Amino acid sequence: MPVVNRGKAVTGLITMDDLTNEEILEILADAERLLPVAKGELYLPLLQGRILGNLFFEPSTRTRMSFETAMKRLGGDVVNLGDVKTSSVVKGETLFDTIQMVDGYTDIIAMRHPRQGAAQYAQDSANVPILNGGDGAGHHPTQTMLDLFTIKQAHGRLDGLKVILAGDLRYGRTVHSLSHALTRFGCELVFASPELLRMPSEIVADLSDHGAKITETEDLYSMMNDADVVYMTRIQKERFSDEDEYAKVAGAYKLHANHLTDVKSGMIIMHPLPRVDEIHPSVDKTRHARYFEQAFNGVVARMALLCKLLHVPIPNDVTKAGGAL
Ligand code: CP
Repeated sequence: MPVVNRGKAVTGLITMDDLTNEEILEILADAERLLPVAKGELYLPLLQGRILGNLFFEPSTRTRMSFETAMKRLGGDVVNLGDVKTSSVVKGETLFDTIQMVDGYTDIIAMRHPRQGAAQYAQDSANVPILNGGDGAGHHPTQTMLDLFTIKQAHGRLDGLKVILAGDLRYGRTVHSLSHALTRFGCELVFASPELLRMPSEIVADLSDHGAKITETEDLYSMMNDADVVYMTRIQKERFSDEDEYAKVAGAYKLHANHLTDVKSGMIIMHPLPRVDEIHPSVDKTRHARYFEQAFNGVVARMALLCKLLHVPIPNDVTKAGGAL
């Protein structure tokens, strides 16, 4: 398949390597300033006249809807591929051809695809920035930005924290992207998973080469007492080719409020959602639960990313720049 980028060096967000630490911190500061806009308390149409293309070839609730909310809160518009079953993909249209079309219809594209590497493939032939909303078991960098925002909101910093990533570390793209970012900010990492779902060895090796202090364990609960963040993940049933293999690890961790009696008072529990049974509803009302705020933070983090990639500056004082709804 030929790569037809029409001559521009277009920079999207495919992996966290596309952002420096300084850029990450700037985007988080931008996101903080945009909170009243994300909450609908202030109208600030910075992206009026711009169109986002939402191309989701896999199911999504949060990523797709928060991109759409982010764009609309900033006065922009959104076109959706919609259900793949009602698109020309079912007639055999290739990803390459689909990207060529949507590239012409929009100013920026948010994309999720089941194939690892698909977002980079799309970016290589597109003239508009691509925001990778998840490529198979590969990366999910916009999720990482909202995760970092949530961690910084709770702890006031990113550096030097002890973070447990638990569950499906093999197929979970959120933990692949997040572990890279946390390493760059000097966090200590604990990878808690069943043996079958360990973090891929090449990722562990890469993180170690970059100075990460990593502990790998199957015992989540005994590691929680001095953790600052416990990041739970769903076991990704859809990535297993063998149902029997899935049955061996399904329900491996079921975090209950009873497990939280000896944890640090400021420890936060995160989850990219959707959850299945890995966090019991008894946790929801505890001071530690942050997963619903985390999902809301997807709006503000994606607003800041859309502005960054579309080169639209965010005013220092959004209250002065914005108006009432
Ligand atoms: N966190 C996340 O990616 O959720 P969705 O699959 O609902 O987009």
